[in-house]
Amino acid sequence: MSLSQSTQLLLAISLVYGCNATTEQSLEKPEQKSQVQLDKTPDFESQIESLLAQMTLDEKLGLVHADSKFSIGAVERLGIHEMVLSDGPHGVRYEINRHDWAPANLESDHSTYLPPLTTVAASWDVEMATLHGNVLGSEARHRGKDFILGPGVNMARLPLYGRNFEYMGEDPYLAAKLVVPEVKAIQQNDVAATVKHYALNTQELNRTGVDARPSERTLREVYLPAFEAAVKEGGAWALMGAYNNYYGTNANQSKHLVMDILKGEWGFEGVLMTDWNVNINTFDAAVNGLDIEMGTDVKNYNDYVLADNFKKMIVNGDIEPSVLDDKVRRILRVQFNIGMMDKSRKSGQRNTQEHKVAARTIAENGVVLLKNDDNVLPLDPTQIKSILVMGPNADKAHGAGGGSSEIKSLYEITPLQGLKNALGNDVEITFLRAQPDDISPIPADFIATRHWTGTPAWNISFYQGRRYKTKTSESWIVNSEYKNSDGAKKYIKMSATIKPLRSGEHILQAEFGGEFALYVDGRRMISDSRRPVSMNLMAGKAYDFEIEYQGKNNFVLGWQSPGGLFLEKEQYLAAAKKADAIIYFGGLSHADDREAIDRTDMKLPNGQDQIISNLLSVNANTTVVMVAGSAVEMPWVEQAKSVVWGWYGGQEAGNALANVLLGKVNPSGKMPITLPKQLSDVAAIKLDDYNATESLYKEGVFIGYRWFEQQQIDTLFPFGHGLSYTTFDYQNLMITPLSDGNVKLTLDVKNTGLVKGKEVVQLYVHDVESSVERPLKELKGFTKVELNPGETQQVALTLKPRDLSFWDESTNAWRYEAGEFEAFIGSSLADLRLNQRFVYQ
Ligand code: BGC
Repeated sequence: MSLSQSTQLLLAISLVYGCNATTEQSLEKPEQKSQVQLDKTPDFESQIESLLAQMTLDEKLGLVHADSKFSIGAVERLGIHEMVLSDGPHGVRYEINRHDWAPANLESDHSTYLPPLTTVAASWDVEMATLHGNVLGSEARHRGKDFILGPGVNMARLPLYGRNFEYMGEDPYLAAKLVVPEVKAIQQNDVAATVKHYALNTQELNRTGVDARPSERTLREVYLPAFEAAVKEGGAWALMGAYNNYYGTNANQSKHLVMDILKGEWGFEGVLMTDWNVNINTFDAAVNGLDIEMGTDVKNYNDYVLADNFKKMIVNGDIEPSVLDDKVRRILRVQFNIGMMDKSRKSGQRNTQEHKVAARTIAENGVVLLKNDDNVLPLDPTQIKSILVMGPNADKAHGAGGGSSEIKSLYEITPLQGLKNALGNDVEITFLRAQPDDISPIPADFIATRHWTGTPAWNISFYQGRRYKTKTSESWIVNSEYKNSDGAKKYIKMSATIKPLRSGEHILQAEFGGEFALYVDGRRMISDSRRPVSMNLMAGKAYDFEIEYQGKNNFVLGWQSPGGLFLEKEQYLAAAKKADAIIYFGGLSHADDREAIDRTDMKLPNGQDQIISNLLSVNANTTVVMVAGSAVEMPWVEQAKSVVWGWYGGQEAGNALANVLLGKVNPSGKMPITLPKQLSDVAAIKLDDYNATESLYKEGVFIGYRWFEQQQIDTLFPFGHGLSYTTFDYQNLMITPLSDGNVKLTLDVKNTGLVKGKEVVQLYVHDVESSVERPLKELKGFTKVELNPGETQQVALTLKPRDLSFWDESTNAWRYEAGEFEAFIGSSLADLRLNQRFVYQ
């Protein structure tokens, strides 16, 4: 009996009062194969076979590994062209040299810098995902790309994780719903989306070595749904494997992840490519379904694991030739489907007015109004004559940072510029920088050395002993602050080139436990002393700073620069008292939210908490805007009347923020992550499951808000939270069974305020009685509606059997337990307006 027949027969639904249902209904493995009619025609398949038959072994091998940093071989004699790839998830990356990582320095490789995917997730809007994917796909084509390396859909399990900003938040359902339109829109432009990183890339700490060991249920319910949807509903043509291991073997060559699930159960017909330089071996990678190997440092491309050694193993009979043929077939199938063999292939567009508007629209839809007591926002320019703008993100551009997702855009509107654009000369805008109260690291603005991601950084080297003879490891660190997390004694040298922005006396001061020395251009300036020292430095001149440290503690080197660049507390507070309104643009930057390193804590960097607190104590009309891709602690939140979460907003970020702050756009974003009160509340930290060796995913399926609810831990702002300048009323929930086995929920939503606005109606489900432990609530539906003042709209949401199911480890299948469920509908996880129980048989 098919699923729909069985559910048609068995589904009965009623309002339940104390019903105790115990029957169990096994969900036959539904939807196991791709449901999408990919543009694959039998004709393609016969052409693929014909090409395959004409190819030599070497020609086939040339297609399964890179032949430059971002391309894969060609067989021109057969009309098979080189495949060209580019990062990344929120814009097409600038060109680098063919065989090294240096920028190609072209004048023609600018692209639209779109808001990253966290912002798309915060919009909770499939239309925004479509808009995003469409710009990305079109621009990739215009730049001659065949694959765009995105979207990224790993789950935000840990706020410290450096790549959270690139992904779609902490909820598998939300990410799954948004990745589908994103992938479809990209691919409509004749470019293959490359959904990454499959799977379980949830930390950057030892990202190439950490072993992910979740339970099967955790894997299926939390870490795979977005990939599954991308493949089965979105028809993604490519996936990129993760750096990490999965149960002791690299994810790219995991039989379970690739052969059993991706290519087996899900019926994936596209290609799996590696991330750049993964730890794989020829045999396992080849037979376990890896199709293309990409890399970072390999000089001779025949040294790739899937190159000469693969050939040797085929020739020796260790690997069947059909294994290679399967990979080539897939590669050719993708090529046919993205029009690589077709002269009428779409050619895309770039940096158009339309793309610019799309970037701003997505950013506007993702802005989240976290708090707005006394309706401080929107600011009314007719009432406010002076605004003091402060905070490190007021004049910071972010597009060129973060790692492989960096973008070279034609421009980027900072928040300060956005306000100026919106207000012209009507309101006096003053921008000031504050000197932190305590010693805090030398700001990134002064660091001239950069690591490969483009982020200003210090080089940090660890040595075996006090003589600094044998180096044990080296890395980089973005701040002149080192946190010794394991308490073991360290011998460290740290260096950076620093360029002062102002000439004059700079006050240098260090805080440390252990032995600390600072050398500037070889001259010892600080030696085991916490006393401030003064140094005359010239603006724009490069100085070599070197720190030597021995000890078991933390250390920080801070400075005060001269000439009023950073104002002392008394000075900026005097300005703060006089301003009609203050907007503080704080948060993180890509010194914190970036590939390859995790943050070490959840605090705002550079003394921001103290500065915000100081401002709030003198001027109640202060709005704090957070620009960040990961959660931060906000110890001052009670004092603040209005708090906005702005994410990274792409090249139009400043205009989008100004439009929201001034009420031209009514905020409608909702948090796609929980904001915890403190890091120690987070599951991975509380359960001691964050280290360089292995992740056990001890919290199981209780990721994000599921954990905080289960543990009854208060949060700073809950998942799904986001206010509006208007209010919404929810009424008339009706739950109706449908003949196809789905459950339909309808309700009326009314705009009860004075302005037009959008509301994200959220549906959470709870299985009232279950044989396994299930989250108290799980997001299983949402939709965004726009309503005029006084307007009411009926909203319909659908629950499918899978939405009521859990992954049953005993039968290895999705299964729901017939009986009572409860539906909760509202404006956020913590603002539920309607609930009703129903029985699902
Ligand atoms: C990243 C990928 C990226 C690749 C190519 C890797 O370091 O993890 O996300 O696509 O580099 O730049």
